[in-house]
Amino acid sequence: MSDKLKIGVILSSTRKGRMAEVVHDWFALKTREREDMAFGLLDLREANLPFFDEDAPPAAKTPEHAAARAWEEAIQGYDGFIVLTCEYNHSISAALKNAFDYGYRGWVRKPLGAVGYGGVGAARAVEHLRLIGVNFGMVPVAGAVHIGGADFMTLSKTRDPQSLGDHLDKSLGALLDDIAWWGKITKAARA
Ligand SMILES: Cc1cc2nc3c(=O)[nH]c(=O)nc-3n(C[C@H](O)[C@H](O)[C@H](O)COP(=O)(O)O)c2cc1C
Repeated sequence: MSDKLKIGVILSSTRKGRMAEVVHDWFALKTREREDMAFGLLDLREANLPFFDEDAPPAAKTPEHAAARAWEEAIQGYDGFIVLTCEYNHSISAALKNAFDYGYRGWVRKPLGAVGYGGVGAARAVEHLRLIGVNFGMVPVAGAVHIGGADFMTLSKTRDPQSLGDHLDKSLGALLDDIAWWGKITKAARA
């Protein structure tokens, strides 16, 4: 059995023409030689979660919607998460918040990191995301990537992950190292 950490990569935008897919292409390109982690895609568009309408929080009761049960089961299979987060009105997308609200067991005591993209690299959304993670007993890590300003404009225009060059590699490496460090420790502790 592989001892690689399983890391869920969450696409936080569900809209038509989303940049999320381009950011994911960049992430996949840059992580393909990372051997200590196996990345799995968690696409909120595919998860197709209804807007939260359960009669109890998932911490108290397993959700009834089939899509929500499938989501909770999917996230339980991971040792940590990296969210490719957009920024909508200075916070995370409603779809991402809804996906967090629908989970519980799958989030608890696992590392949480982010690649933010947008005008300011989704800096405000990443901070909000960290606070939400704390509520689940997650470990929001210090390392993060912010694809902002000219980088975000270039990527939006070209939609080509190669167009970003390599100057974000260092911050991506720091994020991955943090996720690996906390991922190993929290996996052992949960066991
Ligand atoms: C509803 C909405 C709100 C937005 N608010 C912000 C914002 O607060 N800060 C920002 O930098 N960009 C904002 N933007 C622009 C997004 O950064 C940009 O559209 C980005 O491509 C969104 O990610 P997506 O394409 O994967 O959905 C907003 C876009 C939308 C659709």
